[in-house]
Amino acid sequence: MKKVIITGSNGLLGQSLLELLLQEKENYQVFGFSRGKNRSGRTDFDYVSIDITDKNRLKNEVEKINPDFIINTAAMTQVDDCETNKKACDTLNVDVVKWLAEISSTINCHLIQISTDFIFDGKKGYYKETDAPNPLSYYGLSKLKSEEVLTNSTIDFTILRTILVYGKVYDLSRNNIVLWVKKMLENQQEITIVDDQYRMPTYVVDLAMACKIAIDKKAIGIFNIASNTLLSVYQIAQEIANCFGLNKDFIKPISTATLNQTAPRPAKTGFDLTKTNSQLSFYPKSFTEDLKRFKEKLIKTTFNS
Ligand SMILES: NC(=O)c1ccc[n+]([C@@H]2O[C@H](COP(=O)([O-])OP(=O)(O)OC[C@H]3O[C@@H](n4cnc5c(N)ncnc54)[C@H](OP(=O)(O)O)[C@@H]3O)[C@@H](O)[C@H]2O)c1
Repeated sequence: MKKVIITGSNGLLGQSLLELLLQEKENYQVFGFSRGKNRSGRTDFDYVSIDITDKNRLKNEVEKINPDFIINTAAMTQVDDCETNKKACDTLNVDVVKWLAEISSTINCHLIQISTDFIFDGKKGYYKETDAPNPLSYYGLSKLKSEEVLTNSTIDFTILRTILVYGKVYDLSRNNIVLWVKKMLENQQEITIVDDQYRMPTYVVDLAMACKIAIDKKAIGIFNIASNTLLSVYQIAQEIANCFGLNKDFIKPISTATLNQTAPRPAKTGFDLTKTNSQLSFYPKSFTEDLKRFKEKLIKTTFNS
């Protein structure tokens, strides 16, 4: 039996991890750490209501449990917010990871950290785990610093880098590209979408599965997790319309330059999945195939919102 703490258990990945790991209660004893009430819709795990930026409380609560693994999904993920509130971004995205690494070292725990394609400048695309990072935004820089905390440490760690995560969970507080495009097109509202940024969108169910594989294999190091197709964000929106039978005429292409976003975004990311395929035996599929699975899940599942 492995004891696993999930920080950010109320989030998109956090709730997806609960759903996955709680299917095997004989193998995993799961603890969720998140702010405020447990919003996962599940009560069959131990929930700790905690602000993880409270260092002393974090240390006490983790040490009480003495976990084998911590999966740190909590982060400040809104890229423009990180640019305008660098202090809060540093605290949650970097300092908390330092503290978790320190605690993990004391109790001999394996730390799994989620990182991002935004550590790259987007000039090259199809990034390998070994490619040189060059973040354009403060968010990207903070996630790179969080990686360096682990790569410079002596603890057992896994870094899973991922891209544009989407899905639906019981109680979702933040929107994602698939739900947003679907809703706008269902309401017959025009949307403008950049056609000069390229991404490999990631179905959250696959990201959760990658975390479980990291636990089961005790995989050490950095791994890329995304679907296997690089598409422009405009093409992504078109695929969503195709999958859900919605009218593509409402999707209008625009360029990044016209957006005037606070934080710059990398133009072309996407990952090389060779290491993930060979070392994790994990073979992500195309965005089109993932969307079909997501659509089936939406039909089968009752969600809160
Ligand atoms: N989403 C993407 O497209 C994407 C892309 C690349 C990488 N990632 C990385 O993937 C990871 C998971 O992302 P996600 O989409 O699942 O994020 P999310 O939905 O925003 O979930 C994060 C969770 O952490 C909780 N949290 C935040 N601050 C906290 C604090 N101080 N104490 C306790 N809990 C706190 C949040 O609570 P509240 O719900 O109360 O705010 C939220 O439930 C992150 O590390 C992110 O950087 C995400």
